[in-house]
Amino acid sequence: MSPEVLLQLDLSPDAGTIGDIVLPEKAIADRVAELGWQITCDYRDRDLLAVAILKGALVFGCDLVRRIDGPLEFDMMGISRYKKTPIFKEVTITHDLRTDVRGKDLLIVEDIVDTGLTLNYLIQVLEERKPRSVAVCSLLDRPGLRLAEIPLRYVGFNVSEEFLVGYGLDFCDRYRGLPYIASMQF
Ligand code: IMP
Ligand code: MG
Repeated sequence: MSPEVLLQLDLSPDAGTIGDIVLPEKAIADRVAELGWQITCDYRDRDLLAVAILKGALVFGCDLVRRIDGPLEFDMMGISRYKKTPIFKEVTITHDLRTDVRGKDLLIVEDIVDTGLTLNYLIQVLEERKPRSVAVCSLLDRPGLRLAEIPLRYVGFNVSEEFLVGYGLDFCDRYRGLPYIASMQF
């Protein structure tokens, strides 16, 4: 069953168990450092505002900003795709930015891009606020299930269609605190 379908089902937290480790702690840390260095080089002398998307990208965002060298601003935005709508396409803002984005170089920090519908909506909302530029950094990319085209400038890892948990990713709000990323078995 695809993650997109799994997220729509009203499953209990006990419906699955943790399977194999897909990305160990060290592999994540090394890749986050590489991404941080790349972003440091690309955004030198720019007005960088990194925005982590709650709650999934919170862990990644905190590690990533500590690997970017520069006086960046860091803020958070909460959005959720409402699961009870039949097509699961409705997105709502649950926590808005406290920072004015006008004229800034915005870097959206996401945990995983799957269908792309969440980010597609978010990019539209943020572009209306007139930042100087918008780019996306996603730790994980699952290109096989894309429904909306997303310009991903930075990607940590490509992943398969297994449902993943850990390092911020959850199943029924559990497992976000795992230091590694593992598959979930149902
Ligand atoms: P999209 O709108 O389909 O791209 O959904 C992306 C969002 O769905 C991510 O920000 C996650 O919150 C969630 N998501 C997608 N796949 C997984 C997964 O394998 N594990 C946990 N959450 C996931
Ligand atoms: Mg998310």
